[in-house]
Amino acid sequence: MTSEWIVSCDEASIAKDDVARFDHLGETYAVVRMSDGVCNVMDGLCTHGKAHLAEGFVDGTTIECPKHNGRFNVLTGEATASPARVATRVYQTRINDSKIEFLKDK
Ligand code: FES
Repeated sequence: MTSEWIVSCDEASIAKDDVARFDHLGETYAVVRMSDGVCNVMDGLCTHGKAHLAEGFVDGTTIECPKHNGRFNVLTGEATASPARVATRVYQTRINDSKIEFLKDK
């Protein structure tokens, strides 16, 4: 299986402790900028009820779903608060020329 780097948002367009939605080839992602400024990309739909995590809230390394307040670890994808129980996918992420890029399997 091969992978490719997908270019998403400009790093400066996302404030610390905030998240942006990024859609690409029919899939949706949540691009998170944590309180320390580090960015990470994760699947955009909550594993519990398919809400858009980009409409949620970021606090440190945690993102809270806007629908039922389930929480996920932004670094690992682990579900850390009910009713979310299934981990979400996180992607290897890098900054390249001020753009947030993530590694996706083809
Ligand atoms: S849809 Fe996210 S916790 Fe229910």
